[in-house]
Amino acid sequence: METQQKKLYVSASDARAFVEAVLCGNGIPHDNAIIIADCLIQADLRGVDTHGINRIPSYMARVRKGVLDAEASPSLNQITPVVAQVDGKNGFGFIAAHMGMAKAIEMAKEFGIGMVSVKHSNHFGMSAWVVQQALDADMMSLVFTNSSPALPVWGGRSKLMGVSPIACGAPAGAEKPFILDMAPSIAARGKIYKAARRGEKIPLDWALDADGNQTDDPNKALLDGVMLPMGGPKGSALSIMMDVFSGVLSGSAFAGHVVNPYDPSKPADVGHFLVALKPDLFMSLQEFKDRMDYLYTRVVGSEKMAGVERIYYPGEIEQLVHEERLKTGIPYVEAEIEALNQEAERVGVAKIVTSIGY
Ligand SMILES: NC(=O)c1ccc[n+]([C@@H]2O[C@H](COP(=O)([O-])OP(=O)(O)OC[C@H]3O[C@@H](n4cnc5c(N)ncnc54)[C@H](O)[C@@H]3O)[C@@H](O)[C@H]2O)c1
Repeated sequence: METQQKKLYVSASDARAFVEAVLCGNGIPHDNAIIIADCLIQADLRGVDTHGINRIPSYMARVRKGVLDAEASPSLNQITPVVAQVDGKNGFGFIAAHMGMAKAIEMAKEFGIGMVSVKHSNHFGMSAWVVQQALDADMMSLVFTNSSPALPVWGGRSKLMGVSPIACGAPAGAEKPFILDMAPSIAARGKIYKAARRGEKIPLDWALDADGNQTDDPNKALLDGVMLPMGGPKGSALSIMMDVFSGVLSGSAFAGHVVNPYDPSKPADVGHFLVALKPDLFMSLQEFKDRMDYLYTRVVGSEKMAGVERIYYPGEIEQLVHEERLKTGIPYVEAEIEALNQEAERVGVAKIVTSIGY
């Protein structure tokens, strides 16, 4: 239910330079700022605007309150030849997950598979950037995280589980890679934050208000409301699965104890579960990619149901938006640019460079 608002376009390189400057201005080491900015801008480029640079004000609020350690460097503990653990040390989730996936890839290159459990981490935004990190190394991946309570378990009425995304990927040859990245709710909670930020309504089937009624008002949904799981008990079960693999297994918070990234009162203690898998374990890489390409053409070439113009592969819409936004720049609304510029002012760095468009 997007309303037509004036859009201000920012090129990916200007957005990246702006975010790096704001992050460094808040005490984040430059090498880490580069990684965080890249993850956030990848989200905006892919059209996952809910998890892009608009998160900067809430992340910086946590840094200023001292509940997220801007200078933390995660540590790595090798458990077996194919299993490692990262302690995020309450630093940025982007940094802990990036280190974790890099280690998983390294182990998978040698042994075929690598699994990394990440504890004491924070929100890492859009899961697809971790999947992309594996794809860039020609690896298949599983990327799980838990998150703060937003969703009732099936049959419950108050929020307990996170809207915790389940993500995975596999490389292809000439065609698009497979990138699944989905929250187990009807819509990601970030979409409700985005609607609230932009003064827009939400579809009635996304969330309930505090009284258990359907609502199209994002503020009522956020204020003691709950998100609705996709597919009833199945969405609820996927959310519990994310908590088992990311929270229980790692030693991080779980069972409703992860703290909301918009709550700057305490550390979040998020857990992640990352697997990299070498696709050429049972055949050559070329044969695997040829088979992935065949799967892609079978899926998108499938007979369409009435009213459908085009069938998309998982992750394809986002990849098309990415290609488009590299050319047009990334669209933001004025209120979002103002909030970002306030962050720049706080640390005395230049405002974000925009051009006007609709
Ligand atoms: N870190 C966190 O705690 C957290 C929590 C919630 C969500 N998120 C992020 O929010 C983002 C949005 O999640 P979401 O569930 O709202 O995503 P979504 O519903 O927009 O997309 C989910 C999946 O469905 C695919 N898809 C969507 N429309 C399609 C179509 N018409 N045809 C074929 N495939 C299609 C997408 O490519 C994607 O793989 C994700 O990037 C997720 O990682 C992060």
